[in-house]
Amino acid sequence: MKIAVIGTGYVGLVSGTCFAAWGHEVVCVDKNAQKINNLERGIVPIYEPGLDELVERNSAVGRLRFTCNLAEALAGASTIFIAVGTPPRAGHGDADLSFVYMAARELAPLIDDDAVVVIKSTVPVGTGDVVQKIIESVRKTGTFSVASNPEFLREGVAIRDFLEPDRVVIGVEDERGRKVLMELYSAPLEARKTPIVVTQRRTSELIKYAANAFLATKITFINELADLCEQVGSNVSELALGMGLDKRIGTSFLNAGPGYGGSCFPKDTMALLRTAQDYGVAVRIVEETVTANEARKRRMALKVVDALDGDIEGRTIAVLGLTFKPDTDDMRDAPSVPLIETLQRFGAIIHAHDPVGMENASRILSDVEFFDDAYECAHNADAVVVITEWDSIRKIDLARLKQTMRQAVLIDLRNAFEQGVAEQIGFRVSAIGRSTTARFDKNTSAAIHKGRKAEKPHLEIAGV
Ligand code: UDX
Repeated sequence: MKIAVIGTGYVGLVSGTCFAAWGHEVVCVDKNAQKINNLERGIVPIYEPGLDELVERNSAVGRLRFTCNLAEALAGASTIFIAVGTPPRAGHGDADLSFVYMAARELAPLIDDDAVVVIKSTVPVGTGDVVQKIIESVRKTGTFSVASNPEFLREGVAIRDFLEPDRVVIGVEDERGRKVLMELYSAPLEARKTPIVVTQRRTSELIKYAANAFLATKITFINELADLCEQVGSNVSELALGMGLDKRIGTSFLNAGPGYGGSCFPKDTMALLRTAQDYGVAVRIVEETVTANEARKRRMALKVVDALDGDIEGRTIAVLGLTFKPDTDDMRDAPSVPLIETLQRFGAIIHAHDPVGMENASRILSDVEFFDDAYECAHNADAVVVITEWDSIRKIDLARLKQTMRQAVLIDLRNAFEQGVAEQIGFRVSAIGRSTTARFDKNTSAAIHKGRKAEKPHLEIAGV
């Protein structure tokens, strides 16, 4: 199948490359000439494990090409994916659809008669209807289709999420759209028996927002329960496991932390609320999720203040991990930003380290000293705050870290370290969802840790 992908952002580039890996002939098109130039030379503009290699391999065999020329990209393409950005509109919170509509206007005169135009960008309900009208207004003849096929990939594991999805969602209004998209997905996913949900276009558009809002709510739920655990002397990781092993609940996305961030959850929850508002419907649980998450990110600064007995003016705080989650350089809506800014307002001096996010972070944060090395970052610090649970940060030698610090205070906002081990080394530890005096059971903690890494229940826990 010949496929064109409009937009080489996160979703467009990963999708295009993976379609090529499935054996299709793919052309990715973007207006940014420098990006296209770089991609033609194998330079990938985003940090995503494994993507460089996959781009290189598929470009080398001629299955994946890049161009700025839309007509060239669309010539002979049976399927055209729109994967341009839908950023939040400043001051509104709803999605800015101008790039989607512009793509529709520009592709309309260039597509083949029977082409299927598929919206992969995350778009509010009804966007497919508008795109259909835009194309119809330009093309008086032809039998094109407009479909919806949202993408659920996560940064950091995007390739695996694309090639081995839990499900594929297809929203179609006609038989041709259904046939082409089923053909595209069913063969490569047949062996894995991946469910393909075929539904109306409007339902498909809403599924993406509903899924993200639900996950954001799940995280917020466990975060609030973590606060309760701290007050009553319970352990949130054990609580999450005890709850999550109920198959109806599930163990994933129950890691309490400093609040969710990233390019999707904050944007998509707001966009869902705007849609609900437009239709006069209250989705209160999502409203509460958004409010609670924003407040939480700021409140994390108070945890640091508390750990330092209320005295942080002129103190040096070493922040480990800046990106919104590990394995990405993405700083969008990262909890580290409000936390650091609040600590700075309280008069703290900030040292920071992140394995790959420091360049992006330096564009957002000011008056922060950045360190390539975590131990140097903690040198003479009065406290270390772990905000992002990178593997390299989890592997830090706490004894060595302590030696370099002025005082051994660890605020672990991701429960990246075994609290008992850190305490034995001599740290005063403030973690998430566990009181500092909490019982330390090495076997239980190890089992939970292993279970979480594997993202599936760990049966050893049954004997605890
Ligand atoms: C998310 C969705 O998971 C994905 O399906 C969608 O396509 C895009 O949005 P992404 O933003 O890449 O993906 O990251 P994700 O792994 O979902 O994490 C989002 C945020 O939630 C991060 O800040 C992460 O740290 C936080 N999180 C996640 C938690 O705090 N606890 C958890 O248990 C899981």
